[in-house]
Parts: sequence; C-alpha cells; structure tokens
Amino acid sequence: MRTTTLGTHGPRVGVIGLGAMGMSFAYDMATPRDEATSVSVIRQALDLGMTLIDTADVYGPYTNEELVGRALADRREHAVIATKVGMEAIDPTGGPGGSPLVKPNGRPEHVRAAIDASLRRLGTDHVDLYQLHRVDPEVPIEETWGALAEAVTAGKARHLGLSKVGVEQIQRAQAVHPVTTVQSEFSLWTRDVQAEVLPYCTQHGIALLSYSPLGRGFLAGRFASFDELPEKDQRRRLPRFQQDNLQANLDIANGVRAVADRVGATPAQVALAWLVAQGPHVVPIPGTKTPKYLTDNAGAADVRLSPGDLAELDAVPAPVGGRY
Ligand SMILES: NC(=O)c1ccc[n+]([C@@H]2O[C@H](COP(=O)([O-])OP(=O)(O)OC[C@H]3O[C@@H](n4cnc5c(N)ncnc54)[C@H](OP(=O)(O)O)[C@@H]3O)[C@@H](O)[C@H]2O)c1
Repeated sequence: MRTTTLGTHGPRVGVIGLGAMGMSFAYDMATPRDEATSVSVIRQALDLGMTLIDTADVYGPYTNEELVGRALADRREHAVIATKVGMEAIDPTGGPGGSPLVKPNGRPEHVRAAIDASLRRLGTDHVDLYQLHRVDPEVPIEETWGALAEAVTAGKARHLGLSKVGVEQIQRAQAVHPVTTVQSEFSLWTRDVQAEVLPYCTQHGIALLSYSPLGRGFLAGRFASFDELPEKDQRRRLPRFQQDNLQANLDIANGVRAVADRVGATPAQVALAWLVAQGPHVVPIPGTKTPKYLTDNAGAADVRLSPGDLAELDAVPAPVGGRY
C-alpha cells in the first residue's frame, strides 16, 4: 500500500489504517465476539500495509487494547499503534441501552496512570501515537496536554494527537507540545472539518485521522432500514439512522454506489478513496472485524477517482439528522 507521513515529523503509515473499536465496543454488542478472527484481521491489516492501528483505553471498556496487544505481540515493530486517553468508564452498564457509561477525565494524574495501564494492556513499552480522546471541560487543555507530553519525555509515547477538537483547542495544545494528528469524524456525510479544522491542519503539518469514514457502515451500503441495525448497537441511538432519516439518507448511499458501479469498485472503496483524495495528510481509519471488508478497504488505496467522480461525490446531498 502507498504510504504517507503523519504530520510533519510523525511515522510513515499506509494511506488507509484500521480502527479496532468495533471489535469490542459500540456496535452489535448482543453478538458474542469472535476474538480469533479479530486478531487475524489486525494481523492481516499489517500484511496489507494498513499499519496504523487505532484503539483507545476506554474501548471495551479496557479490553480493546488487550486484543490489539495480543494481535501485535510478535510484530510490534510493523505496527504504528495509536491509542487514546481522557475518557473513563464510570459504570459498565449505566449508559444508553445498557452500554458502558463513559465521561471525560483530563486530570493530569489520570493521564499519568493511564499511559502505564495502556502500555501494560498493549504489551509494549511505547505507543507511537498517544491521543487525547476528549477535552475535559473541567480541566484546562494545557494541563491535560502537558501530562501527555510527559509521556513523550519519558519515552512512553512517540507523538501526540487530539480528537474531536476545534482550531482554538489545537492552538492551545500546540503552545505546550507539537500536535501530530487530529482525529475527527470525516466522511462523505460528515464534512464539518472542511470549514476550519482541515485547512488549519493542512497549513500546520498536522495529519487528519478520519474516524467513522464509512459513516459507521452506512456509506458502504450496509443498512437500508432501521430494522437492519443489530440489537444493542450505538447506531440505534443516532439521529441519522432513525427510520425516516435513514430512508432520506439512502440518496447519499445510492450516490456513492452509482460512482462505485461506474469505476468498478465497492461503495466502501469509493467512500475511502474520496477521503484519500482530500490530500496526503488525510488518513481514514475504517473499522471492521470482517476479513473480506478489510481486504475491500485496503483495495481503496488503489482506486483512483477522476475529477468528475470527485465532483459527483462532493455533490451528494447533505444528510438528514445530526450526528448525535
Ligand atoms: N475519536 C473518536 O472519538 C472516535 C469515534 C468513533 C470511531 N473512532 C475510530 O474510528 C474507527 C472507525 O470508525 P467506526 O468503526 O465508528 O465507523 P466506520 O469505519 O465508518 O464503519 C464501521 C462499520 O462499517 C462496516 N464496514 C467496514 N468496512 C466495510 C466494507 N468494506 N463493506 C461493508 N461494511 C463495512 C463495519 O462492519 P463490521 O464491523 O461488521 O466488520 C462496521 O459496522 C473506530 O474503529 C475507532 O478506532 C474514533
């Protein structure tokens, strides 16, 4: 797979990465997980050149990093491990629909303890990218970011990233320690970063890690009605997936499919190729626990969209329903 550099001084990674969240968290929680398959998907990702593996301490909660650690045990040096800190599970079943209830915790003492716990679960002595999952509204970002920077000084993290932030928060963090990446939802149906965050990142040599790049599966053409969503699945609470909105949003999925049919690719590949075409600093991290989807997603790196294809995708309708 072609590679790109994360930010100005970050590691080289495949132009498409892998998000590990759904292997243990958020989606289809009523179906028991096939951990052996998830482990092989992570290992296969490396073989395909998808070297950036994204996880977070709170995914699971606290089991997704262990899964990633198991998968990478004998090939640590081939992976660029990105994990996150700054959210904690305060009740394992107290969230909506019996999901874990999580909340931000950006206190420096939490970050200092969390990096050691993450390294233990991941089975490594350092992570390549340590990301602040959410800015804690009760803690100045400078204090939280300063604690992440201590992890770099201590050799426990190589580079730092932010998640779900605006330009002002990026600037405040930059004044304390360089920002290598910003992780934001970015896809054909979620483009708010194009207004300010993406231009800022481009100008300042910061990579944009695009999360939920497949619109949580919707842009890949997975869901034609609300009833197709699995039980105990975060998407059941999201406005865009409610039946009437979802029906209206099928125009978007159909627009992606039309281009895919024309260029001989799958809708998922077109959704990812559109992101890759936004510039070398945009790296999508699609999530999957399914071997055939992983191969499909890797193939997106070879899909070239013409200016006409890109214009057609740019023109798909805006979604009905907010993100949350
Ligand atoms: N920073 C944050 O706050 C934040 C928030 C959300 C996500 N993330 C990160 O971003 C990663 C990706 O986001 P996401 O998982 O929310 O959404 P996504 O990548 O947009 O979509 C994942 C869904 O799409 C399905 N899928 C994947 N490839 C497919 C293909 N080729 N064809 C058909 N269906 C396909 C998956 O199915 P299966 O799982 O059944 O294979 C899963 O249901 C996460 O794993 C996580 O690392 C970060």
